[in-house]
Amino acid sequence: MRVVGAKDMSAPMRQMGEASQEKVAWITGAGKGIGRALARRLAHDGWNVAASARSEEDLGSLVEECPPGRVRSYPLDITDLAATETVLGRIEENMGRIDLAVLNAGTHTPVNAVGFSVETVRHLVETNLMGTATSLSCIMPKFLAHGEGHIAVVGSLAGYRGLPTAAAYGASKAGVINMCEALKPELELHGVRLTLINPGFVETPLTDKNDFPMPFLMPVEEAVEQIMRGLRRTAFEVTFPWRFAILMKLLRLLPDRLFFAVTRRMVRR
Ligand SMILES: NC(=O)c1ccc[n+]([C@@H]2O[C@H](COP(=O)([O-])OP(=O)(O)OC[C@H]3O[C@@H](n4cnc5c(N)ncnc54)[C@H](OP(=O)(O)O)[C@@H]3O)[C@@H](O)[C@H]2O)c1
Repeated sequence: MRVVGAKDMSAPMRQMGEASQEKVAWITGAGKGIGRALARRLAHDGWNVAASARSEEDLGSLVEECPPGRVRSYPLDITDLAATETVLGRIEENMGRIDLAVLNAGTHTPVNAVGFSVETVRHLVETNLMGTATSLSCIMPKFLAHGEGHIAVVGSLAGYRGLPTAAAYGASKAGVINMCEALKPELELHGVRLTLINPGFVETPLTDKNDFPMPFLMPVEEAVEQIMRGLRRTAFEVTFPWRFAILMKLLRLLPDRLFFAVTRRMVRR
């Protein structure tokens, strides 16, 4: 049993005795935003990257902009269990065992009390929570069988407490955070590492749609730097930008009266 340690991120080669095979990362939501920038970074660092998203076009252009042969495109809708199982089988067949799985795919649509849409809630929970659960259900048995592997799940600081307009997004990410906390000790016992990445606002196509002020908005390349640093450390949770993370952690500690005094100011008439 081996807990994946810090050195594994900086040296993309398997351990001694396992041949000089390069390391393989599977990233979901690799077509745009954070996942795409992370795929690019890992590929430049010498990883072999299996990139998944629904848009074949996005994945094709990612392959083009990375060092030749480093990134392969595996189009996938993460809400489709059978397709996820098939894609993981194909990745292992073509690229070998996966060392790092970054479950990053997700989406956001605002949901308010006025005009509350159960369909939007369903879509966000289906993608962000159930999509992550679907990926976990396919990758965990493989890692557990080998007694090693590193899973990184992208949640959000918005999952800490309920924030106006995030009635669906926040709920889905709170579920992701809770699920990771529940799985962590057991995975660890079996030699599988789990890292939870909770970003604040990062400049991506997802946040480009927002028409409200986004405190401490971070460029995507900086976010990737933080993620790479976090993956090298052994801490369970990786948060950034640090100022926003501290604010959100404080909000989590506030009693309801004070918490709602803050969030009431965020509601538009
Ligand atoms: N940007 C932020 O400020 C921020 C903050 C906190 C957390 N996050 C989280 O970080 C992750 C990445 O966000 P981002 O900002 O990079 O978003 P983005 O720019 O919208 O990119 C999302 C990626 O996920 C893919 N995706 C969406 N639904 C999918 C599905 N059903 N199956 C497979 N792939 C799917 C999209 O490609 P297709 O549409 O082609 O499938 C796209 O490649 C998300 O989980 C998000 O919640 C982002």
